[in-house]
Order: sequence, then C-alpha cells, then structure tokens
Amino acid sequence: AFIVTDNCIKCKYTDCVEVCPVDCFYEGPNFLVIDPDECIDCALCEPECPAEAIFSEDELPAGQEAFVEINADLAGTWPNITEKKDPLPDAEEWDGKPDKLQYLER
Ligand code: SF4
Ligand code: F3S
Repeated sequence: AFIVTDNCIKCKYTDCVEVCPVDCFYEGPNFLVIDPDECIDCALCEPECPAEAIFSEDELPAGQEAFVEINADLAGTWPNITEKKDPLPDAEEWDGKPDKLQYLER
C-alpha cells in the first residue's frame, strides 16, 4: 500500500484525494491517511502531494516506519474524503518541518 507520512501533518493539502481511483483516503483534523486494505498501489497520488508526504510502503524514508500502523489504524475511524479542499491555514509554514507526529490530532 501507499502510506501518508509525517510531512502531511499540519499541511493537509488534499490534492491526493482527487486522483485516487478507489477513494481510499480518510480525513482527520490535521492529517489524512490511506486505507491499506483498499489501496491498489496505482501510485497516482504520490506525485500529486505538494508536501511529498506519500510513499510506497516498500520505499518509506528512514524514520517513517510508524506511519504504516498509523495509516491502518486511523483509516478505520476517520471519515472518507474524496474532494479537494483548502489546505490548513499555516500549511506553507509547516511544510518541511521535521517530526510533526507530536502534533497529530486523532
Ligand atoms: Fe489511491 Fe492509488 Fe494512492 Fe493507493 S496508490 S491511495 S489506490 S491513488
Ligand atoms: Fe497530505 Fe499531501 Fe494529501 S499534504 S492531504 S498527503 S496532498
């Protein structure tokens, strides 16, 4: 499956959801996740993310391993999102800041 990782937190640009053919993105207050059971590994979402926060599970950057379980867990509780909306207000400021997991709102 593809995995949404740290740099989505506090940005949530949502460009990713528009291209997913199986609508498997789920939305929380300041982060999105992909349901790994629904993702068909088409890779269409990866280049759409302005924050470069989406990776194949097989090519996860070092330090992002925890997001495999986070995506799987939160996809089961958050609502589905299929249409792009405005990014979070301070998205540009937070884009690229390291270690945002501490700010994840569930
Ligand atoms: Fe959706 Fe394809 Fe991205 Fe999986 S890889 S979340 S199926 S767009
Ligand atoms: Fe997040 Fe990137 Fe989608 S910032 S909401 S994964 S476009």
